[in-house]
Amino acid sequence: MNRSFVVPRAVGAAPAVSDPSRHPVAPGGSAPARARARAEAPALGTAVGKAILLGEHSVVYGHPAIAIPLHGLGVRVEAERIPDAADTSSMLDSRLFTGPLDQAPERLRPAVEAIRAALNAVDADAAVRVHVRGDIPAERGLGSSAAVAAAIVTAVCAVFGRSLDEPERHELIQTAERAAHGTPSGLDAHTVVADGPIWFHGGIVERLAVAAPMTFVVADTGVAGGTRAAVTGVRSRREADPERIDALLAALGDLAETGRHALARGDSVHVGVAMTQAHELLGMLGVGHPQLDMLAAAALAAGAHGAKLTGGGLGGCVLVLARDTEHAVSVERGLREAGAAETWITTVEETP
Ligand code: PMV
Repeated sequence: MNRSFVVPRAVGAAPAVSDPSRHPVAPGGSAPARARARAEAPALGTAVGKAILLGEHSVVYGHPAIAIPLHGLGVRVEAERIPDAADTSSMLDSRLFTGPLDQAPERLRPAVEAIRAALNAVDADAAVRVHVRGDIPAERGLGSSAAVAAAIVTAVCAVFGRSLDEPERHELIQTAERAAHGTPSGLDAHTVVADGPIWFHGGIVERLAVAAPMTFVVADTGVAGGTRAAVTGVRSRREADPERIDALLAALGDLAETGRHALARGDSVHVGVAMTQAHELLGMLGVGHPQLDMLAAAALAAGAHGAKLTGGGLGGCVLVLARDTEHAVSVERGLREAGAAETWITTVEETP
């Protein structure tokens, strides 16, 4: 499938995040009946996919990173109280599995953890049914687990009348992310609810200045990535050879700094150069894959400014910086001819 989308320029509240005030309220009836209807109406939570522009893996060790939300890929969750079922198990309804939480397959552990963390946070007095749908491919480095967790915690808390502030929501997403891949940096958890590109350093998120629009192509190798395995692999290689691995991680952090300045100048050539260098360093870190190298090479052959793997690696996607929107379409064609399983185009607009 070939899909294109544009990252909107909007600033302010992330459109992806649910607003509990939007819950349908049944008209008429007594005040308690209206309150009951409101409590029983499904609550909504949404979140989007993400791509890491620079700084994956090094961000786990405190170096800075840049990530962009992919507003064309999303997750939508509806949660509702199960009536009169205080002592029954909560239920998950997803494309992979429908049933009680304690019977969900291991793959859905992050979603299960997100539901449990949210129920715990609101001292829930009832079980919930949580319906999850979305189009962010799993295990492709596009933030699917964090987006599912973000949408779940927002919806489940809203069922009990709680809207989460930013730190609370982040902590609940991180609880689920820890189940997904051990030691998450927090970059994904922030980006899947962001409204534009972010700079993330030492746990602090800043909106990133971008002086000119930049159009990216995301291309899926079709090979499942493995964030947990990749992060664990980097950790053990670092234990075996700290000097070499720390130098690679520091160089990746420096490239994020380079990228930040280039974005602020609107200098897409140097953003691209930093991306291509990062791809090489990530390969040296041991998180590459021949299919990622092949797609990155195809993008450069098609005249892209830069190309790199994005996310945990060992498979998953490449992120490519095209010259402009028209060029992105021809790069996309080249990537598909080279064997990309799926492609998306996204434009990061200049910040006002
Ligand atoms: O593969 P993803 O989309 O979950 O991205 C992982 C990014 C890492 O830097 C490798 C890990 C992290 O926690 O930041």
